[in-house]
Order: sequence, then structure tokens, then C-alpha cells
Amino acid sequence: PLVDAFSALRTLARTVERLLGLKRVVVVPGDVARQPDDLAAVARAAAIALERAMKEARVIAVAGGTTMAAVAEVFRPRRKHPEVTFVPARGGLGEHIDIQADTIAARLADRAGGRFVRLGVPDQLSPETIRAMLEEADVRRRLDEVRRAEVVFHGIGDAKTMSLRRRADAAIRAELERRGAVSEAFGAYYDGDGRLVAQMPTIGLSIEELRAKRCIAVAAGRPKAAAIISLAKTGLFQELITDQGAAEAIRNGL
Ligand code: BG6
Repeated sequence: PLVDAFSALRTLARTVERLLGLKRVVVVPGDVARQPDDLAAVARAAAIALERAMKEARVIAVAGGTTMAAVAEVFRPRRKHPEVTFVPARGGLGEHIDIQADTIAARLADRAGGRFVRLGVPDQLSPETIRAMLEEADVRRRLDEVRRAEVVFHGIGDAKTMSLRRRADAAIRAELERRGAVSEAFGAYYDGDGRLVAQMPTIGLSIEELRAKRCIAVAAGRPKAAAIISLAKTGLFQELITDQGAAEAIRNGL
């Protein structure tokens, strides 16, 4: 029966690959939305992908969020990788320190015996402040390192959940809703057709830069299915690590 269960998950993964037009999908059992402990299985699958990525990439970028924080939690590579540098994909976006990309990059580097670069960007900056920061030699040096990332690991958020979590003001939340925002990644919000509806000001990899890289999304739980579909339509990521709850909802058309 265990063998049957695994082959059913593999079939499910192939179906999701086809439906979303992805190169590779991994589906682990469970549903993190129903059983929070199931997040460990998703994180372990992502940690395996990360360990594999370290064999090829010298610079690995990570986004923030609870899912990527869980990956850092379980990440215990078999050998040290002093040649690998972990960088945040983008600067702080108004989240708790534990789930910011800077923190996750530092934790992964610690586990891997590698280097890390932090962006150290304060939250809720105006576009003018961001422009001024980009003139700073130190910020530019860090950004140059971030841009060298070959692989990016990132979460996918449900638009509404993310706008609340990041304490976006009421006017912005109303605007996101009016424009039909479904998903969020890297501080950008997309509608159900994968069209960009809003972008929070921050520094780091731009959407264009992200497009040129190998992006591996780690997102699980049935309530995230719509967000996963929405972001898949942007073509931003090619690989997905998810759970049965989200995968079945995608297969069944939500
Ligand atoms: C954010 C990332 O920090 O986490 C986003 O920048 C992602 O890319 C979000 O949408 C997902 O968070 P979580 O907690 O659901 O994994």
C-alpha cells in the first residue's frame, strides 16, 4: 500500500506538471493547511532540492516566508559547502525577522558552512528612499552579489493573506482586491491570469532578473492552490515543491 501511495503521488505530480506547464513537480503527502506538522515533509523535500542545487550553483537566492523558514529549520546538508553563498532575493518586506529572506539566507549559510550576504533593507520604504539607497556603494556591492544568484528558492503567498501579514494599508488592500490579486511572490501581486497588479517597493532581484534564473517554488496547503496557479501563469518558476492538499486542488480545478 505504501508503494501504491507513492506512485499515486508521483502520478499526481506529473499531472500538476502538465497542467501548470512546469519542468518538475514534487508532491509530498498531507496538507499543511489541515495539519501544520505536514510542513516538515514539504521542508525536507525542499532541503533535498537545495542540497542538490548546491552541487551546481555557487550563489543561491532565497525569499522569505514561513515555508522557506521551515526549510532552513530542517536543512542539514551532508557535507559543508564553503564555496556556496546564500543571498536574499529581496530586502525586508514588513515581516517578522525570523521569516525575512536575510535571516533565512544567514541560517542556510550557517548550516551549509557557506557565506551569506544580507541586504538589510528597512520595511515600507518610499520609492525615493529606495532610489537613494541604490546610490550607496555598499548597497550596490551587495546587490551585485545577489544578482549573481543562479538558483532562487521562494514561497508563494495568497494575495490577501500576504497583504494583511505585511500590514498594507486599507487603501492598498482595497486596490489589490479591486484588481483581483490572487498570488504574491517577492512583494509582487498577480491576478488569476498571472498579470502583475502591484509591486511593493523594495530592493533585490527584479522580476526581469528573476525570469532569467532557475526558480524553485516551495508552497503547500490547499488554500494556496489558486495562488500557485496564478503565479505559474507568469512563467516565473519552473519547479514546484508542494503537498497533496494543494496538488489535488490544482488537479481538480480548485
Ligand atoms: C514571502 C515571500 O516572504 O513569503 C513571498 O517573499 C511568498 O515570495 C511568501 O509569497 C510566502 O509566505 P509563506 O509564509 O506562506 O511561506
